[in-house]
Amino acid sequence: MNIYEVITKQSQIYDSFYLYDESCILDNTQKLLDSFPGVEFLYSVKCNPNTNVLNCVFGQGFGADAASLGEVLLSCKAGLPKEKIYYSAPGKTLKDIRESIEKSFLIADSIDEIHRIQKVAEEMDIKVKIGLRINPDFTYLTDSGVSSKFGIDEDQAAEFITNSSCDRVRINGIHVHLKSQELDANILAGYHKKMFVLAEKFDKLCGGLEYLNLGSGIGIPYEEGDAPFDLSYLSSSMEKELAGFKTICSDTKVMIEVGRFAVCKSGVYVTKVLDRKVSHGKTYIILKNTMNGFIRPSLAKMVLSYTNELSPKGTEPLFTSRNAFSFITLKEGDEEETVTLVGNLCTSADVIAEDITLPRLEAGDLVVINNAGGYAAVLSPIQFSSQEKPAELFLTAKGDITV
Ligand SMILES: Cc1ncc(COP(=O)(O)O)c(C=O)c1O
Repeated sequence: MNIYEVITKQSQIYDSFYLYDESCILDNTQKLLDSFPGVEFLYSVKCNPNTNVLNCVFGQGFGADAASLGEVLLSCKAGLPKEKIYYSAPGKTLKDIRESIEKSFLIADSIDEIHRIQKVAEEMDIKVKIGLRINPDFTYLTDSGVSSKFGIDEDQAAEFITNSSCDRVRINGIHVHLKSQELDANILAGYHKKMFVLAEKFDKLCGGLEYLNLGSGIGIPYEEGDAPFDLSYLSSSMEKELAGFKTICSDTKVMIEVGRFAVCKSGVYVTKVLDRKVSHGKTYIILKNTMNGFIRPSLAKMVLSYTNELSPKGTEPLFTSRNAFSFITLKEGDEEETVTLVGNLCTSADVIAEDITLPRLEAGDLVVINNAGGYAAVLSPIQFSSQEKPAELFLTAKGDITV
């Protein structure tokens, strides 16, 4: 059965659903493993925490980049040991710290947070190794730092380590993540180079670093014209940089965390035509759960309605670019028409495409949206107007469907 046959079959049961393809996740994660020997991978759970997806990615040997206590617990439930779970997020509460401290490696996001971890460690009468998320004195493109809500400024972190009175915490790792969805491998290679220099500095300051987490950045082509990320370029550059780094920090584990590269392309969102109407000469196709089932296409329309720019800057993971999603119908035949695709929510913002040409659609037909394997189900405001939730289906490599 090909994927379109699977979709058609499932649409007899569900009016809107995500379909994640295990073979695609296995291919993408394997590409990363093959391209970066000597690097360990973490999966950014926030991208798609579906249980089947987690089992698949963790089954490939990936650890977890957890952005909340909830994601730490999900990763534990999926069978990961503490050693493979890294909890990095701003604004952790004392409760978050208490409940995750023995289940994950905490990465402190501020100096105040280090003090909160010290307090919890005192309460529990333990000593903990923690990482620091650093806001470095560089960006992808420049050699100076910028203000950020994420992490601790590089100079403040260095100063803290030198003068720390927190005797219950030992800093043993660093984490940086500056930007997602970079399609230029040369830019990411330059960033990694700066990261290795930063790690050598903190290795000296901390008296040894057990890990260096390079964060993410690896982008994927969303639009038809986007060139795919050149993994082989980044792979060669990494091999060279890693060899140099290991002569100085031979025991430091080097990690990359990814979300979208592993899963985004594996998913489609399928929605059913509920109704059609013509109003003042415009044909509307009304679909099940668009804004509330997969918000990103309608958010893109909204962003574009506020600007005349042809390529407005992306705001990941909510807005990527003008044509980041394609709308595919499973209909064949010559009859085409110009339509506007809207959803069944009671807001006029629920529009996913305007004046596009598609085969004629009737109630019961399907529209399939690509790039829906990550930052999709998790972002959608499904509580609005108490609509039925889209199903999340998983097509196993053997061809079975798991819910
Ligand atoms: C700290 C951190 N790491 C990793 C990621 C994953 O990024 P991507 O899905 O682009 O790989 C994100 C995404 O927001 C992030 O905030």
